[in-house]
Amino acid sequence: MAEKKKILVTGGLGFIGSHTVVELQHEGFEVVIIDNLSNSSLEVLEGITRITGKTPAFEKMDLRDKAAVSAFFANHPDVSGVIHFAASKAVGESVDQPLLYYENNINTLIYILQELRDKGESCFIFSSSCTVYGQADELPITESAPVKKAESPYGNTKQIGEEIIADTCNVHHGLKAISLRYFNPIGAHPTVEIGELPLGVPQNLVPFITQTGAGVRKELSVFGGDYPTPDGTGIRDYIHVVDLAKAHVVALQRLLHGDNKENYEVFNVGTGTGSSVLEVIKSFESVSGEKLHYKIVDRRPGDITAAYADTTKANRELGWEAKSTLDEAMRSAWAWEKKIRS
Ligand code: UFG
Repeated sequence: MAEKKKILVTGGLGFIGSHTVVELQHEGFEVVIIDNLSNSSLEVLEGITRITGKTPAFEKMDLRDKAAVSAFFANHPDVSGVIHFAASKAVGESVDQPLLYYENNINTLIYILQELRDKGESCFIFSSSCTVYGQADELPITESAPVKKAESPYGNTKQIGEEIIADTCNVHHGLKAISLRYFNPIGAHPTVEIGELPLGVPQNLVPFITQTGAGVRKELSVFGGDYPTPDGTGIRDYIHVVDLAKAHVVALQRLLHGDNKENYEVFNVGTGTGSSVLEVIKSFESVSGEKLHYKIVDRRPGDITAAYADTTKANRELGWEAKSTLDEAMRSAWAWEKKIRS
């Protein structure tokens, strides 16, 4: 059944946000996007429109402006849920500019939660990260694995963010919330209308690979060939961004329909399969037919050896599972790279 409810998506023009807006519109939700365009562009709105045939409402706003956040909720009393993507996400930058990260990622969260508390009934979905587990002692990682001390201010904002939400839901029972702990999102929409647009030199593996394949970068540095893994390179759980976007919609529906078991819940969102850096390179070579230039260099400080999700809880409680293989996600990432270079 199509949903007519109005949903605020902060950071809705970003990589994961834009794919989630598409899935929300496919399900019939009415979407309002807030984005400050600091790491996104208005062209994304056009891509969303071309895919869905509908232009979501858009307000350019910086969520650090508390008065503007209050004014938004006063003007939109009919918002029934918020999916909060807007945040800074570069690990290295967060080490250099911790206060910027705490301001962007924590202050904005507090301002939104204050509004939702005042509304009474509301639903909130938070972008969290598998970074909260650090190097987990057991693989695959379940939601009950201990949260480890964060390696960076960025990671800390996700841990603190989760705690703020949990504490708030504990006393304000009208507020229902879910944190989704993402593993490594990759890929682009199959229509190639939206995808990832990294600013400057990509820090993440897949955009670096596709840019190297496209000749924008000379070669990929593989960070570490001496990890205790079968081929010596780091292992991660790469999830197609469309699968990840769909997890947001089902999580939201769980809260809207009152199917949640607790006021605040946490779910891993990954595929359940770990892939090494060399396997990711092989996937790129097989779907693109290109040979990738790469060399193995020292480990990157702060990197863990291996992380992949146990997705049993999301499968059982949300009725959700990732559908795309690594090759399918890689094929879409490569199609997107070729499109934006053409
Ligand atoms: N890697 C390379 N070369 C590169 C980039 C990455 O070899 O140029 C390797 C990394 O060492 C790692 C894997 O590829 O083994 C994945 O690296 P990413 O940077 O793509 O992803 P991370 O797992 O390091 O980071 C992701 C998110 C962060 C989050 C972190 C938590 O991007 O936001 O997971 O683990 F904090």
